[in-house]
Amino acid sequence: MLEKTKVAVLVSGGGTNLQAIIDAEKSGIIKDGEVVLVVSSSKNAYALTRAEQNNIKGVYAKSEAEILQALEESSAELIVLAGFLKILSKDFIRRYENRIINIHPALIPSFCGKGAYGLHVHEMALDYGVKVTGATVHFVNEIPDGGKIIAQKAVEVQDGDTPEILQKRVMEQAEWVLLPQAVQQISEEIRKGKENGND
Ligand code: GRF
Repeated sequence: MLEKTKVAVLVSGGGTNLQAIIDAEKSGIIKDGEVVLVVSSSKNAYALTRAEQNNIKGVYAKSEAEILQALEESSAELIVLAGFLKILSKDFIRRYENRIINIHPALIPSFCGKGAYGLHVHEMALDYGVKVTGATVHFVNEIPDGGKIIAQKAVEVQDGDTPEILQKRVMEQAEWVLLPQAVQQISEEIRKGKENGND
């Protein structure tokens, strides 16, 4: 069996999705991938502390060139955007075509695209009055939140929800379940591809 798929997680904030991936690797839900690198676009992101606590290389990158360098040094094969707030360039995306996935806290094509990030997404869902929202994992292409969908999970909106309450429910019920599953799925595909000599 060829070695596991090397996974890099790009973050900007608290990193609860990163934590879900780390936990899933420990519990064996992710068995075909291993997190080898965490890159943060923000120096003080708690996600970097999580990386350190788990003996994973953590890098604060100020530019895309620095991100690329870290990815190359770690031989990353799969890039997971987990609360990463920077938009990646076309060149970067082309360089890692079908190798970058993102988690979005709504059911795409609802409440997505430019400006739809973090709490805003849940505000948009509540303002619209939807009764169901959720999370989506998708491949990243040049269109924000526009790449092929890998997995989705629905979550109920409840009376009296605030954006914060809804965000927490979407994370607990959808994001932290869906993202590790998707990381496993794509890691397995990449690993099998290597075995079959497709890589
Ligand atoms: C999550 O809601 C994710 O879907 C969004 O940003 C948030 C990141 O949270 N893209 P965390 O840093 O993983 O805690």
